[in-house]
Parts: sequence; structure tokens; C-alpha cells
Amino acid sequence: MSDLTDHLRFYQDLGVAGVSRDPKWRARIDSRRERGAEDQPVRDDATLVPEAGLGQPVTIARSAAEALAAIREDLGDCTRCKLHTQGRRQIVFGVGSPDAELMFVGEAPGADEDVQGIPFVGRAGQLLTKMIEAMGLRRDEVYIANVIKCRPPGNRNPEPDEIASCEPFLIRQIAAINPKVIVALGAFAAKTLTKTDAPISRLRGRAFEYAGATLIPTFHPSFLLRSPGYKREAWEDLKKALAALGRELPRPAGS
Ligand code: URA
Repeated sequence: MSDLTDHLRFYQDLGVAGVSRDPKWRARIDSRRERGAEDQPVRDDATLVPEAGLGQPVTIARSAAEALAAIREDLGDCTRCKLHTQGRRQIVFGVGSPDAELMFVGEAPGADEDVQGIPFVGRAGQLLTKMIEAMGLRRDEVYIANVIKCRPPGNRNPEPDEIASCEPFLIRQIAAINPKVIVALGAFAAKTLTKTDAPISRLRGRAFEYAGATLIPTFHPSFLLRSPGYKREAWEDLKKALAALGRELPRPAGS
């Protein structure tokens, strides 16, 4: 019994949120391992090993959906940081397919997301949906979450204590979904996931490895709404994400 406890604790230390008995999970992990070197995305940075942190419960789940449900339950009506006293209406956990190969990580919910309880549903969200569709994917095929699950007042930047409270849940979401590719939207998500302080202009255009996934930072859709001239670079990043997924560029309509 203590062997099992040690084993689970080891996985917990690695940030693994769930262990599945579903053969599909194993198949996904093995097929990733078996991919040939020529199929591997360019990775120009050291492997990033996230830590969910001790004290995070280990979830035994039969599927990614079950693991996500257990993480949501652990989050509860969260009062771990001061954001619960600063006007948040509800927790915005994440949306999309638990089996997604592609995951997007944003910063924090804004006003629209706070009302609807769903990430990226406002103007920036509409642009993100267009970006996903331009990749030849549907929004319900990917998974979308934020680093921070509660709206910071006045959309201010999240603070370090808020990140410290919330990031373990993002790490567990990533472990549950086990995506092939993670796109970090904007400076805040990119810095949190890469654990660097480099500006987004230096992080984008590169590929990192994060918990077995290819991590691709790009500009935040809100920034692209303000500065549409950067959309071309963002599209280059999304093409990199498609290549890491092993997917073709979609043909332009009518061709
Ligand atoms: N911006 C984000 O980073 N996340 C959202 O959910 C909405 C806007």
C-alpha cells in the first residue's frame, strides 16, 4: 500500500492530475513517443517541467473528462486568493474537448467571461474563434483555459499571489488533457508557462517543450484587436502549431 502511495505521490510531484485506465490514453502517449524524429517539432529551449505543488490531490480518473471534472470539484467555490473578494461573479474554469490535441491558454477572464462563465467569449474570444477556424479546426475540438480562473477587477494584470494560487489548477488541466500542442496567448500566459520574464515579442516565433507538449507562445487576441498589423506574425505561430500537430494548412475556400 505504501508503494502505491509513494507512486501516486511521485506522479503528483510531476503535476499529473489523473491516471486513466482507458486504453485510448495510453495509445495517445505511446503514439507520441513513437513519432519519428523528422516529425518532431523544433524545440529551441529546455524542457519545462511544471510542478502542480504538494497538497494538490491526486485524481484517479477513467478519462480526461473525469479528471477535469475532479479538478473542477477540487477548485470548488474557490477562496484561495483575494480575487474572490474583488467582485468576481463566478469561476471560469475552461471549455472544449477534454481529448483535445490543441489547447489554448489565456490570461484571465474579462467582463463577458465573468458573466457567462466561459473563457474567451467577448471580442477577443470572437477573434480567437476565427483564429481557430482559420487553422481548419472548430472551437469545440480544442480546449481553452486561462492561467487565472477569476476576473481581476477592472481587468488589471493578475498578481503573483493570484498566480501562485491558480497555476496548480492549470497544470492539472494540462496534465488531464495531455495535449500535443499548447498555444500560450499573450505575455502573461507565455511568461507563466515558460517561467521566464522575456517579453512576448521575444518568446513568440519559438517552440518550447512543456510537460511533453509543444508550447507555442503568440500574441494575445486583445493585443491583435488593438494592433492588427501583428496578425501576420500570429498566423506564423499558428502555422507552427499546425505543423506540430502534424496537420496540413487548410485550403483557402473556393480552391
Ligand atoms: N482574455 C483572456 O485572457 N481570457 C479570456 O477568457 C478572455 C479574455
